[in-house]
Amino acid sequence: MTSVLYTGAAGRMGTVLRAGLAGEFERVVLFVREEVPVLHAHEEIVNGRLSDLDAMTEAMRGVDVMIHLAAVADEAPWADILESNIEGTYAVFEAARRAGVRRVVYASSHHAIGFYPVTQRVGPADPVRPDSYYGVSKVFGEALARLYHDKWGLEVVSLRIGCFRPEPEDVRQLSAWLSHRDGVELLRRSVLAAGVGFAVVYGVSANTRGWWDNDDAAVIGYVPRDDAEAFAGRFTPDDPAPIVQGGAFADPSYRGGVW
Ligand SMILES: NC(=O)c1ccc[n+]([C@@H]2O[C@H](COP(=O)([O-])OP(=O)(O)OC[C@H]3O[C@@H](n4cnc5c(N)ncnc54)[C@H](O)[C@@H]3O)[C@@H](O)[C@H]2O)c1
Repeated sequence: MTSVLYTGAAGRMGTVLRAGLAGEFERVVLFVREEVPVLHAHEEIVNGRLSDLDAMTEAMRGVDVMIHLAAVADEAPWADILESNIEGTYAVFEAARRAGVRRVVYASSHHAIGFYPVTQRVGPADPVRPDSYYGVSKVFGEALARLYHDKWGLEVVSLRIGCFRPEPEDVRQLSAWLSHRDGVELLRRSVLAAGVGFAVVYGVSANTRGWWDNDDAAVIGYVPRDDAEAFAGRFTPDDPAPIVQGGAFADPSYRGGVW
């Protein structure tokens, strides 16, 4: 049996993923700064902030897999990105190392490569092209993950998550959509797969219009089942289509809000 710790457990993804995996892990620690409305089987709360390295290290004692979801999950002023996504992510990896956690599942984002044109296929080996300060912070997290794996042997699965929604909401998401069902399976495999080592996996459904080569999905045994094409009829040729994969995040005037 596996024990896990979530950061960001009360957020949009944490809420759906925890419900989808309820009862599957022996012990589930929720390291949160705000209230969690519904607690599922085996879940316990530790209140704290990402900046409190000692508290986080204590909370991670006895934990096998740390699931790092907490972040400013949109474009934002640099000071906010710095505090949550840069300093906070450093503290999370360092606490995991100190506490002897075996694996970190890191919620990265496709905004790490959002400046690639929609006409180009992209895989994990291609150079990063972040589309925002937010995207830069995810590149930082992936680099930190690589360091902690290479230097201290931490197992890491970095998930370049597309758009996690119940259904695709615009033309861009016909390519980038991650269904709730596939997202739950993605996290299940990220936690439970044996012998992972280091992997960078696109968190995306089996979309006919997908842009990303996902070789490392096989490393964790992730096989998506949903396809955004089933919703394509909702959109018309008049609907705005993206030029680059990150969509509005790449716009120089974008300050957050589309998410
Ligand atoms: N939802 C998506 O479609 C999507 C896409 C790509 C990547 N991601 C990534 O997945 C993760 C979860 O996304 P989400 O949509 O659930 O975001 P969210 O904004 O709904 O939740 C993020 C959570 O992190 C917490 N948090 C932020 N800063 C914190 C800090 N300094 N200390 C403690 N807690 C802090 C917030 O309180 C919140 O509960 C994020 O890392 C995000 O960047 C999400």
